[in-house]
Amino acid sequence: MVLVDRKEVVVEAEDLSLGYEDLDSVSWAVRNVCLRLARGSSLCVVGESGSGKSTLGNAIAGLLPPYVRVSGRLVIEGVEVIKGSSVVGADRIRGRVVSKIPQNPAASLNPYIRIEQIFRDVLRDVRGIRDKNVLREETLKLISTVGLSEDVLYMYPHELSGGMSQRVAIALALAPRPSIIVADEPTSNLDAYLRGYIIRLIADLSEKLKTSLVVITHDISITEVVCRNVAVMFLGELMEYGPTRDVLKEPLHPYTSELIEAAELRRTSQISRKYVSGCVYYSRCPYATSKCLEQPLLVKLGNEREVKCWRKLY
Ligand SMILES: Nc1ncnc2c1ncn2[C@@H]1O[C@H](COP(=O)(O)OP(=O)(O)OP(=O)(O)O)[C@@H](O)[C@H]1O
Ligand SMILES: [Mg+2]
Repeated sequence: MVLVDRKEVVVEAEDLSLGYEDLDSVSWAVRNVCLRLARGSSLCVVGESGSGKSTLGNAIAGLLPPYVRVSGRLVIEGVEVIKGSSVVGADRIRGRVVSKIPQNPAASLNPYIRIEQIFRDVLRDVRGIRDKNVLREETLKLISTVGLSEDVLYMYPHELSGGMSQRVAIALALAPRPSIIVADEPTSNLDAYLRGYIIRLIADLSEKLKTSLVVITHDISITEVVCRNVAVMFLGELMEYGPTRDVLKEPLHPYTSELIEAAELRRTSQISRKYVSGCVYYSRCPYATSKCLEQPLLVKLGNEREVKCWRKLY
């Protein structure tokens, strides 16, 4: 890893392990991770489900549950958050220095409070703004930053579409003027069209506001759009780290190659769904022949089973 001036390092994890207590045992979700994030830089944490991405992201955001077990060291903006086996400074950074765009924004907003009040509460609690006009002005500024209009302020969370809730969540994360934003699977609940829009919005805003960014995702294909560096995790361990472009072009770990191939497969099967006139499974089928470029029909086989595959029709 490149050595940088200490003041310019906003996240520093040294031999960091994070686990959850379960009766009399501990299951370690993150093991011996070393990481650095430079000011204004961006990092994607990528890996399959259960690899410890959210646990690491929550530690960076100071959002660990009381039954967490820790070891190693985690320093955020000079504040020691984890020191040995203790969580010592999470409340000094949570929601102030670091804010988080949650995995499921609609579910994380209080359903009984209008959007404007949610913004007011954050601005009052974190930035100490009390004047009604200033609260209104700041709220309007924040929602226009994410391309939303004033109407959204009078709505309740359940009245927002998926894309609107995600944008409200981004604006709320910006409200404390954090120096780091953690976005946990920011596009997982969105359709393909909105996914690209939201991921670019997060990347553009963090660049414009000079906010450091940690994006957690299981989809390695979005990393290049949004982050300068990528950390690949598997079963709680860091398997590969480096500049995103280099890692994608020339992965060094076989697990990284596997993630890239899986993303490529998803992409080609989406393309084939749109453009190939034959069997929709063609691009992924290990038995595909030229016959499969013709559309197969769902055929009854006589034993109460049905299949749409040319191999079974001869
Ligand atoms: N609050 C919790 N209490 C107990 N165990 C947890 C908790 N959160 C996560 N775990 C466990 O820690 C491990 C890592 O989970 P984590 O949510 O960090 O992975 P992830 O990479 O974010 O997965 P996903 O892609 O499914 O969100 C899993 O085995 C999970 O069951
Ligand atoms: Mg997760």
